Amino acid sequence: MCGIFGYIGIKDNASEIILKGLKGLEYRGYDSWGIAVKINDKISVEKHVGKIGDAKVNLPKSTIGIGHTRWATHGGVTMENAHPHLDCTGEISVLHNGIIENYREIKDELIKKGHKFKSETDTEVMPHLLEEYLKKGKNFTESMRLAFNHCKGLSAFVAINTKSHQIVAAKNGSPLILGIGENEFFIASDASGILPYTRNLIFIKDNEMISLDKNLKLFTLPDGKEIKPKIEVITWNVESSSKENFKHFMLKEINEQPKVIRNIAENYEDQILELAKIIKKSRGTFFIGCGTAYYASLAGMYLFSKIAKKHVNTAPASEFNYLEDFLTKESLIIALSQSGETIDVVEPLSRAKRKGAKIVSIVNALGSTVYRMGDFKLLLGAGPEKAVASTKAYIAKLSILFMLANLIDNNNFKSVKNILLKTADQIEKIVTDGFENKYKNLIKFLSKKENVYIIGRGISYGTALEGALKLKEISYIHAEGLAGGELKHGPLALIEKNSPCIVLAPDDDTYDAIISNAMEIKARGGYIIGISSKKSDVFDEFIEVKETGCSIISQVIPMQLLSYYLALEKNLDPDKPRNLAKSVTVK
Ligand code: G6P
Repeated sequence: MCGIFGYIGIKDNASEIILKGLKGLEYRGYDSWGIAVKINDKISVEKHVGKIGDAKVNLPKSTIGIGHTRWATHGGVTMENAHPHLDCTGEISVLHNGIIENYREIKDELIKKGHKFKSETDTEVMPHLLEEYLKKGKNFTESMRLAFNHCKGLSAFVAINTKSHQIVAAKNGSPLILGIGENEFFIASDASGILPYTRNLIFIKDNEMISLDKNLKLFTLPDGKEIKPKIEVITWNVESSSKENFKHFMLKEINEQPKVIRNIAENYEDQILELAKIIKKSRGTFFIGCGTAYYASLAGMYLFSKIAKKHVNTAPASEFNYLEDFLTKESLIIALSQSGETIDVVEPLSRAKRKGAKIVSIVNALGSTVYRMGDFKLLLGAGPEKAVASTKAYIAKLSILFMLANLIDNNNFKSVKNILLKTADQIEKIVTDGFENKYKNLIKFLSKKENVYIIGRGISYGTALEGALKLKEISYIHAEGLAGGELKHGPLALIEKNSPCIVLAPDDDTYDAIISNAMEIKARGGYIIGISSKKSDVFDEFIEVKETGCSIISQVIPMQLLSYYLALEKNLDPDKPRNLAKSVTVK
């Protein structure tokens, strides 16, 4: 989380270059933003609370600066807490992505030494620590090394110093990418903002530090040994994305889903057969992911059991650290991630790698950390996903897992392809068939509710969880996804007159049992919204989703659309929901 962009070079419009870079990084956090540039021997800072949107910057001309978009961890969303932060002399400025776990004790020590703090952030200890080391006669690079080693936790820091006219950066967590131009350097949280200027990049590794002035130097941490930088010449392009004629990215991305499925159906056979071979050879396969990606991996577990007759394990990636003791060299970890930067995915992968386990990365963002960690890499091919709530990347993951489960069991690619193509057509109908008008009353009814329950069984269980996540993220309605059978073991106590319950009832072996669960809710006054191909008397509202042989993919679409229109009904921004970020790089 948090977007970082820095510039040092011969152009004198550093603040504008940085602002442009930050605009492309807002998906990493949009609580506040700020830019610091060197003006003579002091630093000038401009900060704003809220989203960047089409903001302009009013800083004087400068050839060196750093900027940040914040996703708040320590301290509320205020101007004081917005980055960059300064030391007492106003000659050092720092921005940060991550958490300094021992900041409290460092801050207390610094306060005793007379340092004045202006924010509640953990970050602000860093400029003051650097100031302390500079006072002791260390140079700026060495000061960063010592200060970085003083901090516990996973972080990326970028700092400027007016005296040495220098940027230094160090990391052991969040991504930092360095761009090398003609007499200029760029540093950013992802490559997209750098590629318009240069294709020569260095992906700074964990426990590395760089120093940039006229020259570039790379060091290892904690020892500070200078090493030779490995420059990668990037040949790929970062796809850009605009809303086109859609009101929001989320709606556009929901509409792109048929195209995403068709692409996978038509072009992925060879890659998936190769992956199927790897899985067959492994002894212990684990699917991991976070949020939507975790729900896709849960769906994958059911698909593998049902179709491939193979047991795979799954866990939220943030929990996998605590489940890794039994990993061996034969284990296979399949990481699912849209951004490829989620720290909760990156961290367990690093540990699994150290144990010699093999990694498969199934990600949307080419060149991302998870992508680069994979021994086998598979791109989702969903195109840029801009809305914070994941839609088309989820559908891409499900399509890949559906194809994979089928191709492990047999090689009848033709029938899998047909099912996927039929599903794509079916989804196209749902998204282009006036959903908003058709379900106007339902949207109004739900918008006044505080709680929604969603139940599914078997392969629809993951969909119930994903549907609930979409409602929570976008419409701020508390939604609970449940396995249908679990309802009577507690949550049924919450059902009262007109409690809305979405029932996922595909025409498969779960139908009768889930309808019985719906009856149990209805008997207690619940209002039943059925998503199914088969009408039932128990449904108060029926959202028809025709059976195509892969209901797991199509049944989530009405919930994506419901969430989107509920957000509009409640006057919320569906693309940038409060408190969230698209790329979550803190633990
Ligand atoms: C954030 C987003 C979720 C997303 C999750 C995992 O929490 O708000 O929508 O599912 O990260 O992201 P990833 O990029 O790893 O798929």
